[in-house]
Amino acid sequence: MERLSGKVAVVTGGASGIGAATCRRLVREGARVVIGDLDALRAHELAKELGDVSLAVPFDAGDVKSVEELIAAAVARFGRLDILHNNAAIMANEHIKRDNNPVDIDFDVWDKTFAVNVRGYVAGCKYAIPHMLKAGGGAIVMTSSGSAHRGDLSNIAYGASKAAVTNFARYVATIYGKQGIRCNTISPGLIRTEGGQKNVQGAMVKVMADNTLAPRLGLPEDIAAAVAYLVSDDGAFVTGQDIAVDGGMLAHMPYYSDFLNATAAW
Ligand SMILES: NC(=O)c1ccc[n+]([C@@H]2O[C@H](COP(=O)([O-])OP(=O)(O)OC[C@H]3O[C@@H](n4cnc5c(N)ncnc54)[C@H](O)[C@@H]3O)[C@@H](O)[C@H]2O)c1
Repeated sequence: MERLSGKVAVVTGGASGIGAATCRRLVREGARVVIGDLDALRAHELAKELGDVSLAVPFDAGDVKSVEELIAAAVARFGRLDILHNNAAIMANEHIKRDNNPVDIDFDVWDKTFAVNVRGYVAGCKYAIPHMLKAGGGAIVMTSSGSAHRGDLSNIAYGASKAAVTNFARYVATIYGKQGIRCNTISPGLIRTEGGQKNVQGAMVKVMADNTLAPRLGLPEDIAAAVAYLVSDDGAFVTGQDIAVDGGMLAHMPYYSDFLNATAAW
């Protein structure tokens, strides 16, 4: 299946988890891929695995200049840019643990979250869109989260940053739709990536599995498949949308898992 032959993609946070699965999937579908990540070693390892159709570019999504250089490196190597997957986010447990509630939060945590998770995505668009316009169009996907759509007991900056990204994407879709650029977000449920596993552990995993309608938790490949669909011509008429790829986690009545567990006990 070569739906993306001739296309060039930049995937941020491309060295691990969802980003790495997306790089592999896009290459399998015929694209050339730039793996942008803070983790230079792992980005280079993945580029070695994928071969000449890929390029590793160490960068920091929290640094606008570095995002500009990432996009420039992609165009310098492959001559064009058609696809941007804005996907990098701070998943480090020592950061996420401090992203707690409005009374106790340290504003450095808030600001850093927004610098990487939101401004980093805006910068990706700022520097990628002119190249897409030159190529006659393009497709942008941003990784949002179920946390964008519901309240939770912690991680206020993360949730607010993902909500910001979800609506920012609609603005991009609206502003550039007539010029052939589509923009969508994907809201994953619990995906068993390294980042996901660092932050959701122990009893929490069962609670989340109990609240997932599918019989298993999510895999990075589930998200990669949705990205590949959205950036291919199969998704040509889909723009300005948020697609939940969450095994139905947000689709059911709030009492669903309590009810199942209660009836199992009867
Ligand atoms: N795993 C889940 O359950 C889940 C659920 C909802 C949303 N998400 C979202 O999916 C995306 C990918 O997360 P993942 O689960 O694959 O995590 P991951 O930790 O496996 O991968 C994240 C990658 O981003 C990179 N990164 C972090 N900060 C960066 C920065 N400042 N600049 C450049 N790269 C940076 C990391 O080095 C890492 O390679 C994130 O946007 C996350 O919010 C994940």
